[in-house]
Amino acid sequence: MALSGRPKVSIIGAGNVGATLAMRIAEAGLADVVMVDIVEGMPQGKALDLSEARPVVLNDVTIVGTNNYAEIAGSDIVVTTSGVPRKPGMSRDDLIETNGKIARQVAENIKKYAPEAIIIQVANPLDAITYVIAEVTQAPKHKIMGMAGVLDSARYRYFIAEELGVSVEDVQGFVLGGHGDTMVPLPRFTTVGGVPLPEVLPKERIDAIVERTRNGGAEIVNLLKTGSAYYAPSASTFEMVEAILLDRKRILPVAAYLNGEYGIRGLFVGVLAVLGKNGVEKIWEVPLNEAELAELQRSAAHVQELVDKVNELKILG
Ligand code: NAI
Ligand code: 2OP
Repeated sequence: MALSGRPKVSIIGAGNVGATLAMRIAEAGLADVVMVDIVEGMPQGKALDLSEARPVVLNDVTIVGTNNYAEIAGSDIVVTTSGVPRKPGMSRDDLIETNGKIARQVAENIKKYAPEAIIIQVANPLDAITYVIAEVTQAPKHKIMGMAGVLDSARYRYFIAEELGVSVEDVQGFVLGGHGDTMVPLPRFTTVGGVPLPEVLPKERIDAIVERTRNGGAEIVNLLKTGSAYYAPSASTFEMVEAILLDRKRILPVAAYLNGEYGIRGLFVGVLAVLGKNGVEKIWEVPLNEAELAELQRSAAHVQELVDKVNELKILG
């Protein structure tokens, strides 16, 4: 909690995702915000710019930009977006060494200055970097989670709504698994106006949407050419921040620590979870059939390979 009495959210990395998230939080009047970055002047400049918008967009939150981690003390939530985004032709996995080393340093600072905070991890490769943050901070596992499932599910839901010419509001569905090529969209649990997707669209159209969802991040990278998506990612992270700060008990797909659920143990993998003031309050288990479970376990096996790489590269020291 900040001195103002409002909740406090610190965002490490004031780049595209971080600064856009800061803007969303400020415009909702949800919390005071601190942005930390290694680039001198940049987080300060963005914080001042966002603050100067306040008389127009009307909010009273405090927005601070800094290069000093001490300013994150007392945060309710710390969001980690610090890391390099991929370039066209790169996979998220190619970022492991660079972003792993950044994550270690960031996690040491969270442990030192904001040990009580709930951590929402965003940098890629998502699931493995979440593991790094957890190992270094040694924070309770329910207080650490990765953001990716909300984004992948948003893309999936948008593509379905667009295909059918209906409101995004009436398309429900989710994507589980690691944030990469092995992610697991689940048409059997997707509904449009309450009707199961397989009854609304032919299989070949569903398969095409599933494939486009898996490539959703790369599609944006190829269009932007420098950097990766940030509007939908910041909106997705905002949904998680809000669920926690307002103790909403939302059921959202997040990279949560699994301890035997779905036969997966000791990894952060995308699953449905109940988010509230304590972080991940419950894993919301979905009754997957054999084929769906096998896909989720295959995705978890890929996350395990990346975690093995973290250890091979001695990122944790
Ligand atoms: P960006 O390059 O715009 O911003 C990253 C910021 O992190 C930069 O301002 C940089 O100076 C800062 N930074 C680097 N090292 C730091 C350190 N040690 N301490 C503090 N700040 C540091 O990149 P963008 O687009 O904001 O993406 C950030 C990360 O999030 C990337 O790894 C990207 O792949 C990932 N991402 C993940 C998504 C997901 O669904 N999980 C969605 C979108 C992006
Ligand atoms: C995305 O899916 C870059 O992982 C990020 O857009």
